[in-house]
Amino acid sequence: MNKPLSYQSSVPIYCTKTQKEFSVDPYERYFDRVRRQVFSQYYDLNDLRTHYIYEPIIQYIKQHISTSTTGTICEVGCATGRLLRELSLSYKEADLIGLDYSYQMIKMAQQIHHHSGILELDFSDRGSKNYIIDYHPNQHIHFGMAKAEELPFESEYLETIISVMLWDRLDDPTQFLNEVVRVLRPNGKMILITPENYQKAHHWQQFYPTRKMIQIIESHKLKVIHLNEKINITEPLDNSKNAIMWDCVGLAIKKIS
Ligand SMILES: C[S@@+](CC[C@H](N)C(=O)[O-])C[C@H]1O[C@@H](n2cnc3c(N)ncnc32)[C@H](O)[C@@H]1O
Repeated sequence: MNKPLSYQSSVPIYCTKTQKEFSVDPYERYFDRVRRQVFSQYYDLNDLRTHYIYEPIIQYIKQHISTSTTGTICEVGCATGRLLRELSLSYKEADLIGLDYSYQMIKMAQQIHHHSGILELDFSDRGSKNYIIDYHPNQHIHFGMAKAEELPFESEYLETIISVMLWDRLDDPTQFLNEVVRVLRPNGKMILITPENYQKAHHWQQFYPTRKMIQIIESHKLKVIHLNEKINITEPLDNSKNAIMWDCVGLAIKKIS
């Protein structure tokens, strides 16, 4: 892996991001986006009525990536890192790296996963006053601020890339695909899980329906080896069971050697 360009409050920074880019990036907003991620990703730890919302995603990853892998697994767009934490319980021999373009998300990921003690958050605006995350440090997972379009690895470094709920948020997903092809080892795999909830009209035209997305992926020295069009994720919005239903597609993708 490349060396970080710098560190900011112990967050390794692998990319440049201008003040303007910081100010327009919604994922840098602590009060809506970072708190929303924490609320939904750790909800089950605070309320026994529910299960971990990404259980279907864990199952899909395990279906395609052997738990005995010893290579490096990188999650791109990892936000506050819960998925990697869950994966670390099964992928004990792998190196786990979480990257996200949001400094605030990675800072929170490190706060939760690298330090001991209890993180107590007040979500009384969502009906949950004492939201407590009690995690033991897991130095096994490395986090860094980096861009999907400029991955901080030398060529053919990674065994596996995981990307969840990122594809439809990228300005140009094909730049991400170019990087995936560059940094994956021959026969390396990517597990891509996304709702098709594009934000821009030209993205709908370019990538929707799923067969178009697959065509574009396969024009990049990548082969889609499995498609699951029924990965349903329920994201809790508050403590009163209001939720968003995400209808996701899951793709297991292999780099053609
Ligand atoms: C919808 S959230 C999903 C987060 C997490 N994967 C999950 O499923 O809970 C999208 C995440 O992707 C990150 N992101 C957006 N654009 C990115 C980019 N170009 N490179 C890396 N991460 C990016 C955001 O900062 C945010 O944390």
